[in-house]
Amino acid sequence: MTQTVVFDVYGTLFDVQSVQNQCEIIFPDKGSEISQVWREKQLQYMFLHELMGHDVQFDDITERTLTYAVNSVGEDLTEKSRRKLMAGYQQLTLYDETQFVLSYLREKGYQLAVFSNGTDNMLRGLLNESGIHGDLDAVLSVDLAGHFKPTVSSYQVVTDQLNISAEEVLFVSSNGWDIAGAKNAGFQAAWINRSNGPEEVLGLSPDYEGENLTVLKSIL
Ligand code: LAC
Repeated sequence: MTQTVVFDVYGTLFDVQSVQNQCEIIFPDKGSEISQVWREKQLQYMFLHELMGHDVQFDDITERTLTYAVNSVGEDLTEKSRRKLMAGYQQLTLYDETQFVLSYLREKGYQLAVFSNGTDNMLRGLLNESGIHGDLDAVLSVDLAGHFKPTVSSYQVVTDQLNISAEEVLFVSSNGWDIAGAKNAGFQAAWINRSNGPEEVLGLSPDYEGENLTVLKSIL
């Protein structure tokens, strides 16, 4: 049934916490905390802005939550550091198995796409830098919906743009909230449980679960 495999980007294909190395250079001993608060707040602001009906984009949110994260450890963010760390977000590290799994799925003939809350610009920058852009048939941003995941209307970008039905999609994400959103939108879903954490109790369980992307080899 699955013909298309659609990946979330941040935390699923790329390690968002890898930016902590650059945070650490600018703010010694505080890099890990900054990068964790940064990601936590980034997700929180996305959901808050969506709830409040604001028209904001992921790059703007990422920039403002960086300020919050740096302030939360008692530091100030200079313009130069802001530019450095935002650039660092375009150079996140791929997970070890990402490239190999994408190549495997391509060889098997699946259509491959990413679908992310990131802006089209951010996604293209990151994917080009990492070298995996060429492995993907489509790069889809919620920009096209004007709403963030996990709204139902956002996931329709995938079916509309690829001209396929929801049942043909296997959606892959490490984010539990994203898996719930994908199931809610009618997709099959594989949860990449990288932190070996408990399943979300939202009444929308994943169809598959694995500790990294190699689980897809046993599913597809
Ligand atoms: C994504 C993030 C937010 O959509 O995980 O790629």
